[in-house]
Amino acid sequence: MTTRIKDLDILPSAAEKEYCELPKISLDQHTGNNRKLYIESYGCQMNYSDSEIVTAVMHANGFDTTSQPQLADVIFLNTCSIRENAEQKVWKRLKEFNILKRKNPQLTIGILGCMAERLKTKFLEQEKIVDIVAGPDAYRDLPKLINDVNEGSKAVNVFLSREETYADITPVRLNSNGITALISIMRGCDNMCSFCVVPYTRGRERSRDVHSIVAEAQDLYDRGYKEVTLLGQNVDSYKWQSADGIEKVNFAQLLERVALVNPELRVRFSTSHPKDITDEVLYAIKRHDNICNYIHLPAQSGNNRILELMNRTYDREWYLGRIEAINRIIGTDCGISTDIITGFCSETEEEHQDTLSLMQQVRYHFAYMFSYSERPGTPAAKKLADDVPESVKQRRLVEIIDMQASTSKARNLEEIGKIHRVLVEGFSKKSTEQLMGRNTQNTVVVFDKKHYQMGQYVNVQITDCTRGTLMGQGID
Ligand code: 5AD
Ligand code: SF4
Repeated sequence: MTTRIKDLDILPSAAEKEYCELPKISLDQHTGNNRKLYIESYGCQMNYSDSEIVTAVMHANGFDTTSQPQLADVIFLNTCSIRENAEQKVWKRLKEFNILKRKNPQLTIGILGCMAERLKTKFLEQEKIVDIVAGPDAYRDLPKLINDVNEGSKAVNVFLSREETYADITPVRLNSNGITALISIMRGCDNMCSFCVVPYTRGRERSRDVHSIVAEAQDLYDRGYKEVTLLGQNVDSYKWQSADGIEKVNFAQLLERVALVNPELRVRFSTSHPKDITDEVLYAIKRHDNICNYIHLPAQSGNNRILELMNRTYDREWYLGRIEAINRIIGTDCGISTDIITGFCSETEEEHQDTLSLMQQVRYHFAYMFSYSERPGTPAAKKLADDVPESVKQRRLVEIIDMQASTSKARNLEEIGKIHRVLVEGFSKKSTEQLMGRNTQNTVVVFDKKHYQMGQYVNVQITDCTRGTLMGQGID
């Protein structure tokens, strides 16, 4: 059977959570606010987290969220520019919302996030299909932008800040199961990987005040949440200091402070950068049982010439050294995942084989795999030819997906008979008689409901598996 690239089942279920192909949609909120906001979010967890800040800003200004665009006064699309197909989906969706607007001319449509930043005036001038364009650092300004629209003008704010971290805004949790939540710890990226549009759409890197992060984690725990994921484009370069310079906090220290909120609160984080992840971070994970044994450490390629063209600033040997440190300090059962790009500019067949051999050597638990998509304005688009034919990119992508599928299956088979501590997040996709949760390595575990409850930690003995999921029975 040949692998279909769109077949999400070949990816571990976690892939759906991290780089969701489908947008996340706001649910119905009934707090008595009479204006309605419908918000749809695309792309990475950072964007979902931003939508929760947007919702908080809008809520404070008289809006409740709705799950039905036809009931909305304002529709926001929080967009992603990381690959071309992410943008195409948004264009299609905007056309659909403009049909609604023809029926209801009072409807305000806003484009937020990375596409707003990247395409700026194109939306307002050429396309004329949106009323508001707001970049990732402009969300405090949304109520004013809505007023501008009501007064008859188009509204745009794509100013990128060096300071904005929205530290004082308590996010309104969207689509929440009440158990797991995202906490944004920093914004932007200073790394300049040559393929990546993020530094241009999300601006310079800045870290959020440690006290506001710990307070948010504490508040979530007090409200019954059991897991927080600390988010940043490159969490290892988190660096905050107090105004008087006396208090200085790096990522390892932040992780510990959040872990100390309560031993029953699980802590995850994403994304780590191979050049920056320190042994101090690994020892912090080792010391605290509630910091999950799971590291997302994107390699992007296994070949040194390609890594250099990508400006990743590490080589294969350095990367493998970091994997060795993870295995030595945390243990060989630490969950490790990666991002891989196939068919980057001038990648040869041999260089592609180096990526396959790296994957074989590391034996990732999960991988998020993409074919290279040239993004206008990036260093790669300016300096390198996007010269690997689409058919070759796709064939290489299928090869790495197949390799990952067999590794994930083999790894999961090794777990049969073992006991995993699982935090229950909800029902399984297939049945309300079964629950789903994750083990510390971030693998989805499904088991019979019996007397177990959401938000509970359950010891599950593994009896079966697929490539993406472990199955078992709870043991008391
Ligand atoms: N083409 C394909 N994949 C990309 N990514 C980032 N930019 C591109 C691009 N231009 C992938 C990288 C990154 C993940 C979030 O998306 O693997 O780690
Ligand atoms: Fe993009 Fe590289 Fe920054 Fe990740 S670390 S957001 S890939 S520039």
